[in-house]
Amino acid sequence: MISKKLNEEFNKQIMYEYYSAHLYLAMAAWAQDHDFPGLAHFMIMQGDEERIHAMKFFDYVVETAGSVEILGLDTPEFEAESMLDIFVDAYKHEQFVTSRIHFLMNLAHEEKDYAAVSFLTWFVDEQVEEEATFDALIKSVRMIGDNGNGLYQIDKELGSRAPATAEA
Ligand code: FEO
Repeated sequence: MISKKLNEEFNKQIMYEYYSAHLYLAMAAWAQDHDFPGLAHFMIMQGDEERIHAMKFFDYVVETAGSVEILGLDTPEFEAESMLDIFVDAYKHEQFVTSRIHFLMNLAHEEKDYAAVSFLTWFVDEQVEEEATFDALIKSVRMIGDNGNGLYQIDKELGSRAPATAEA
C-alpha cells in the first residue's frame, strides 16, 4: 500500500503531467498562430504523451490502494518569439519534471517502498529521453537560424511525429 505522503506527491505529479500536456497544447496553439503546422502537430503529440504519463501515475495510485485526487491546473506560461524559444522553454520545463521525478524517487527510497522505486525507474529513463529530444531540437534550430527554407523543412519533419503510446 502506498504511504500517505507518497500518495499526496503522486497526486501532485498527476497534476504536473497534465500541466505539461496543457503547456504543450498552448505551444501548439502558438505554433498554429505562427504558421508552423508541423510544430503544432508535434506539440499535440507531446501533450498526448504527457496525458499517458499522468494516467500511469493514476493507475499506480489505484493499484496500490491509494486515493487519487485531481488537482487544478495553472494557465500555462511561456514566452516565445520563435520556434527556438518554444524548444528552449520546453527543455526547461522537462528539466523541472526531471527534478520532480528525482524528488519522488528519493522519497520512495526513504520510505523503502521498492514497488514505487521500480515504477519510478521508467520515468527516470523517460526523462533522459525527454530532455535529449528537446536538446537535439534546440541544436538543430540554432543551426538553421533565420533560414526560411531550413525552418520550413524542420517544420515538415516535426509534422511526421507518430502518435504517443504507453511505452514511450
Ligand atoms: Fe511527462 Fe515530458 O515528461
